[in-house]
Amino acid sequence: MAESDNFNTTAGWVLFSGIVALGLSAVSSGYFGADKVHAPKEEAAEGGDGGKPAVAIETLLASADMAKGEATFKKCASCHTVNQGGANGIGPNLYGVLGEAVAAGRGGFAFSDALKGKGGKWDFTTLNAWLTNPKAFAPGTKMSFAGLPDAAERANLMAWLNTQGSNLPLPAAPAAGAEGAAAAVAVVGDAAAGEKSFAKCKSCHTITPGGANGIGPNLAGIAGDSVAEGRGGFAFSDALKSKGGKWDDASLDAWLTNPKAYAPGTKMSFAGIADAQERANVIAYLKTAK
Ligand code: HEC
Ligand code: HEC
Repeated sequence: MAESDNFNTTAGWVLFSGIVALGLSAVSSGYFGADKVHAPKEEAAEGGDGGKPAVAIETLLASADMAKGEATFKKCASCHTVNQGGANGIGPNLYGVLGEAVAAGRGGFAFSDALKGKGGKWDFTTLNAWLTNPKAFAPGTKMSFAGLPDAAERANLMAWLNTQGSNLPLPAAPAAGAEGAAAAVAVVGDAAAGEKSFAKCKSCHTITPGGANGIGPNLAGIAGDSVAEGRGGFAFSDALKSKGGKWDDASLDAWLTNPKAYAPGTKMSFAGIADAQERANVIAYLKTAK
């Protein structure tokens, strides 16, 4: 991360925390301190939809389409009501959830320990991370929902959800210059740290040239190679084969954020890596494995 981007990030947080503090009785400073991984630096690297340049979620929120957000809520309505006093179903009623404590209240809904263990409040940053990949945000959650990989779709939904009993002020969009800088300065990966994280992949993948396929294909030279092709005849799922294209930084980032959302029906049983820095590290390491 370049110094200037750190500055923008910090400045954005100071501003954002201030706005939230005005709108709410209290903000757990512990939360913001402990969960820096979800700070805006994550958005800078978060392709999510495989290749489009990342736009800060604050910017997307500022131009959110409420009608589209309401339409997206249909994906949630099988488990959630959102009207005031609505019943809990498979999931809790969501009226006024933005600004509320995570996994608390909601008419006594029986939350998982996984979600209860998160602490903090639902704001646009935590909700954005949750909706990107619930299982990576709270491993062990009982919300069986793959996630919404498209950042614009999440922004539309969050903006609409905010009108259902919350009405928090929207976070300030970064200034045009700041955003350009944030988009240009991608999170820089550390290959050595990535090699350590690759321990999470080793139960299924070898990475040395000529290594055997296991539950997953050998990954030597994967960066720049075609998606779901070759690899010693590995039997890829139709889901991944139909993606096409090549593995570049953006597609690897989207895939490793949330495999099931990137290629619904994939046979890679891996929840994903929620932390943008960790993904960048793993991708840097994959590039060293020729
Ligand atoms: C298949 C059912 C299902 C679907 C679909 C679903 N959810 Fe959930 N949701 C749950 C369950 C179950 C929980 C409780 C999770 C836990 O305790 O780990 C939950 C929890 C939540 C919470 C946390 C509430 C709180 O008070 O902390 C939010 C926010 C949420 N869901 C939003 C959504 C949104 C928005 C969508 C659609 C994009 C969605 N959910 C789709 C079942 C679902
Ligand atoms: C539980 C086993 C498992 C784990 C853990 C796992 N993978 Fe996979 N991976 C698979 C399977 C199976 C496939 C094939 C997916 C398909 O065909 O849908 C795959 C496919 C891939 C591909 C696409 C390969 C190609 O040729 O297109 C990449 C890249 C990849 N995995 C990287 C990783 C990384 C990096 C990690 C660790 C952060 C990881 N995987 C963790 C099982 C796993």
